[in-house]
Amino acid sequence: MEFELMLTKRFSIKDNHKIAVVLQHDGYASLEKLFSMKPEEVVQEVIKSKLKGRGGAAFPTGQKWTFIPKDTTKPIYLCINADESEPGTFTDRYIMEYDPHLLIEGIICTAYAIKSHTAYIYIRGEYVKQYNILLKALEEAYQYGFLGKNIKNSGYDLDVYIHRGAGAYICGEETGLIESLEGKKGQPRIKPPFPAVEGLFGCPTIVNNVKTVSHIPWIVKNGGEAFAKIGTEESTGTNIFGISGHVNQPGYWELPFGMHVLEFIEKYAKGVKNGKLKGFIPGGSSTPILTAKECEDLYLSYESMRSHGTFLGTGGMIVMNEHTDMVKALKTLTRFYSEESCGQCTPCREGTSWLDRLLDRILAGEATTKELDLLVEISDNMEGRTICALAAACAMPVRSFVTKFRSDFEKYVKPVSIPVHKIAEKIITKEPVNI
Ligand SMILES: Cc1cc2nc3c(=O)[nH]c(=O)nc-3n(C[C@H](O)[C@H](O)[C@H](O)COP(=O)(O)O)c2cc1C
Ligand code: SF4
Repeated sequence: MEFELMLTKRFSIKDNHKIAVVLQHDGYASLEKLFSMKPEEVVQEVIKSKLKGRGGAAFPTGQKWTFIPKDTTKPIYLCINADESEPGTFTDRYIMEYDPHLLIEGIICTAYAIKSHTAYIYIRGEYVKQYNILLKALEEAYQYGFLGKNIKNSGYDLDVYIHRGAGAYICGEETGLIESLEGKKGQPRIKPPFPAVEGLFGCPTIVNNVKTVSHIPWIVKNGGEAFAKIGTEESTGTNIFGISGHVNQPGYWELPFGMHVLEFIEKYAKGVKNGKLKGFIPGGSSTPILTAKECEDLYLSYESMRSHGTFLGTGGMIVMNEHTDMVKALKTLTRFYSEESCGQCTPCREGTSWLDRLLDRILAGEATTKELDLLVEISDNMEGRTICALAAACAMPVRSFVTKFRSDFEKYVKPVSIPVHKIAEKIITKEPVNI
């Protein structure tokens, strides 16, 4: 398969994080064309490219940019989401580490297109190495005149600031990120208003993922139509797909969308480790799990994932082999989500910890078959009733694990027929359930 790498092309060049090196390899090459275009023309090219946000929600990028009110007199802000905390997801960090100037170039293109003069990079607190690399790269970009006033005599000004998170997953949610940037607790906001209308400091704000903006220089240079020709009808361009878990070679690879998942596992990850495939999480831990059977006709595209009732999410895949205990695997996830819930919404705050406690009871051999149904019932009641998608991010995997791998769960529980509400009462009061 012939294709041009867009995001990882320079990764193997020695010292590529340094501006002097990058400039010898096409670095900042999109800017000449960028400044010859009107901002609206850049937006149109991105719409034509059909680029979708790589942060997980897959919202069309160009369309999102058009939501900024045309007649606004307020400053417009760009926030780069570099929080990357979704379990199983680890590809943004490599752009920041190996090609920070690609990200900065992408920020310049994006900020210019949306008429912003101030951008913030919100980086996950644990990414200390990447933070230091980016800080240095920003300094260099200012020194070389790619940031600051009158960039390369274009008349366009842009300042970029970098802000470190303090280790909360919820600060990756775009309005949690904005709250955190404003110096408050990272608690998501009720939408609408959406950030494009009222975001950072009450001003129009676009939040985009690291990979999303890093695609923009290629689109500016080659045009939106060229981008749209790569990949599949709905999933255009390339993506950096990451894979971890029970594979012989975990890692990440940039590929056009559309490859068969099993081919990807065999060809790139060198096959499933120590046994056959049992479960496959396609795009970070919040995306519903699929069985090996379901993977038989599964492709790396938004549309193929959707047709299987799941999502491509962040593109961070997790492979589980036939020896995986799905109850223990799910317990890891519920613990994560219950700890990371910001606590504002009752269905999320209570639901995530309730699910987690139920998993404890199941693993301890204290639960009944009814409690398996209760896991699903609680999940159903969490979704669509909260401020942000964290509740759904926990509910979706729980429901898919329990329904698709029920026999794993049944091994731990006793069959009984006491009413679910009685069990529920006992879990709330933390009393043992006597069958
Ligand atoms: C709980 C939660 C955590 C999220 N974490 C991230 C994250 O770490 N990085 C990211 O880019 N998007 C994350 N998102 C998605 C963002 O809210 C938002 O959709 C994204 O940053 C938009 O950028 P994009 O359109 O370029 O994908 C998260 C969403 C939720 C609900
Ligand atoms: S859904 Fe959960 S994480 Fe999101 S705002 Fe509500 S309580 Fe906070």
